Parts: sequence; C-alpha cells; structure tokens
Amino acid sequence: MKTNQNSLDIFCAEKINTLEKGASFRTLKTTHRVADAKSRQAGKSLISFSCNDYLGLSHHPTILEKANEAARLYGAGAAASRLITGNYPLLENLEKKLAKLKNTQACLVFGSGFLANIGLIPSLAGADDLILVDELAHACLNSGARLSGAKIIRFKHNDCDDLENHLKAQRPSFSKCLILTDTVFSMDGDLAPLPTLRDVANRHNSWLITDDAHGIGVVGAGRGGGFAFDPPIEADVQMGTLSKALGSYGGYVCGSQKLIDLLVNRARSFVYSTGLPPMSTAAALTALEIIEQDPTLVDKPLAYAKRFCERVGLPAPQSPIVPVIFGDNDTVMAVSEKLADDGFLVSAIRPPTVPENTARLRIAFNACHKSSDIDRLADLVCEAKKEYGIE
Ligand SMILES: Cc1ncc(COP(=O)(O)O)c(C=O)c1O
Repeated sequence: MKTNQNSLDIFCAEKINTLEKGASFRTLKTTHRVADAKSRQAGKSLISFSCNDYLGLSHHPTILEKANEAARLYGAGAAASRLITGNYPLLENLEKKLAKLKNTQACLVFGSGFLANIGLIPSLAGADDLILVDELAHACLNSGARLSGAKIIRFKHNDCDDLENHLKAQRPSFSKCLILTDTVFSMDGDLAPLPTLRDVANRHNSWLITDDAHGIGVVGAGRGGGFAFDPPIEADVQMGTLSKALGSYGGYVCGSQKLIDLLVNRARSFVYSTGLPPMSTAAALTALEIIEQDPTLVDKPLAYAKRFCERVGLPAPQSPIVPVIFGDNDTVMAVSEKLADDGFLVSAIRPPTVPENTARLRIAFNACHKSSDIDRLADLVCEAKKEYGIE
C-alpha cells in the first residue's frame, strides 16, 4: 500500500535533530514506582524526589482498596461522557467535597487538569477578550488561552506592576479580561502574590483564575495556595488537579454554580470526553478524607523542603518544590545521573519546560521521605554545586 510515511519520517527526523543539537531531546524511562517514595529505574532502586505524589497517597492501602471497590461497583471506565451515561454517583460526592474545601458554591470534575484548563478558558474568553498570563504559568493555561482566540499577553513572573501596566494600556480595548496564574509554580515552587493579583484584578474589572495543581494537599493547611494567605484569597475560578498530592488522576474547576452550569454545557473537553474512571474518583475522594482526618500529614513535605534548603543554603521554600538551577542542559543531566548512582531519583528539567539557560534539578519533597534521606541528598547537591562552580 502506498503511504506518505517517508516524508513524515523526514519531517520528524529534522525536528529531532534540532532537539538533539540543543541537548533537549527526551526519551521515556520506564519507572516502577512503589510505596514510600521509592522507584526502580534501569534496574536501580532509587529514593524518588521527582514525584508529585507529595503525600505518598498513590500507594495508600485504604485508597487502593476504595479504588478497587469503585471499579467493582461502577466498572473500570465511565463508558461515556458525563452528559450521556458517565455521571456515576461518586463524581458528585467528590465535587461536593472539593467545593467545600475551596469554599465555592460548586465544582466540576474533568478528565485531567490539562483538560480542565483547555475546556475552562475558551468557555470564558473569545476573540474580543484579553488574557494576561504569568510567563511561568503551566503549559496548559497557555494552551487554553491559545484555544480561546483571545489576545494573550504574558506578564513578567509574579510582577504585579508589569501586569498592571499591561492592563492600563490594553484593558479598555477589550470586552472581558482573564488573569491566569499558578498558585504554586510547578518548576520554581514559589507562591503567586495572590493578595495583590486579587486587588489588581478588581481594579481592572478582570477575572482571576488560579491553577492550584501544586497547592492542594500541601499548602494553606492542605486547602491550597489561596489559603496560604491571611485572610485567604478567593479567585473567581479555582482549578486544580487530582493527580499530584491527592495521588490520583483527574482535574477540577471550583467556582459559582452559574460558572459550573456554563462549563457543563460549553467546555468542549468536558462535553466531548469520557468521564473520569471510577477508580480515580474514589481514590481522590478517599485522599481528601485522609487529609481531613490527619491534618499533620500535609505539613510534612514543606517541612522537609525547609530542612533541605537550610542545609544547602538556599532561600526558605514556599512549597515542597525546590529548584536547584545549574543552567546548562548537559551539566544538569550529568548531575542527575550522578545522583542516580548514589540512589536518588532527581529529574533534570530542561527548556522548553523551563526558560533557556535555567536547566535545573526540580526537587519535590514527600511526606514519606526520611530526614536522613533529605540530609544525604542535600550534601550531594552541595558537592555538585561546588564541582560545577554554582553559587
Ligand atoms: C500547574 C499545573 N497545572 C495543570 C497541570 C495538569 O494537570 P494534569 O496532570 O491533571 O493534567 C499540571 C501538571 O503537570 C500542572 O503542573
């Protein structure tokens, strides 16, 4: 049969070549994650500092039991979109729990955090609108913004003056305006300045939309980034994921009942995609119950991050994510490989996931780590920084 495989492969090879030249070609590594933040990669047993399962809940025995029970009751998959027959009872329980946690009227669960953002943003903005997005915000906020067809401006990271200058210059020319930010930045671990962002959004008649993927379960007493401030800051829309501290999979949007009613009808990634598998829903629901029952659990990852930063001489962290920037792609790969030889899984993160010349180790602390692991890793990181002359 005649196909066009040849020209397709030539196209792919040219693209790959460019990536290889920039030392940013990536390949998949099979990883066997087990309980207690341990993983096996390429035959090595490693203590993982690269999982977003901050509370170690993805292997919690009660969660696994409840997930299995949900599969037995409702099936391995939802079998249809939620507007057809995929709206099994557990989903509504989870949505009620998330809305209560986030202090909103309502919540809608999506197939993933990525799907939530690419459904949410185009439901709220179109060609006549303006979207301002923090330059370090997650890729899926940017993808959602692009899909909307609105004018997009990326403001300087956590810089409310830059944001306000753009608003002064541009806001009058557009109908609606959305301000998008992570609450906890996924590659830097810093918090967004939500009190000032709230104030700027109010003064410029704009909707503040926060992505709390890395906040829920680990900051603000487990309620997320908005609750890390006193008084807590309410965004107009609070989205997030079930796939990190909750140890499951899926995404959510919390907000007013009217917003959720609109999304049920208009968010294409909700309307035209199969409901979340029952196992994932049950796992997230049980994770939220465990967090409620043991509030001390949520403090552990940040406490470990603080211990590490003190030992390495880094500024105090605001979340369990700590970046150690080496800059050069090859250097950070070599450091990550050396750490693996010493029994630690610490992934190297390179552009385009992070800005050029900021290749880094992204260290994610976990409630299951031991103090002795933290101290050993800190000492190895200090040695690597010294070896490569990093301040
Ligand atoms: C800030 C942020 N938002 C959204 C997502 C996407 O969430 P999910 O993995 O559920 O698609 C991620 C995950 O990588 C993230 O870090």
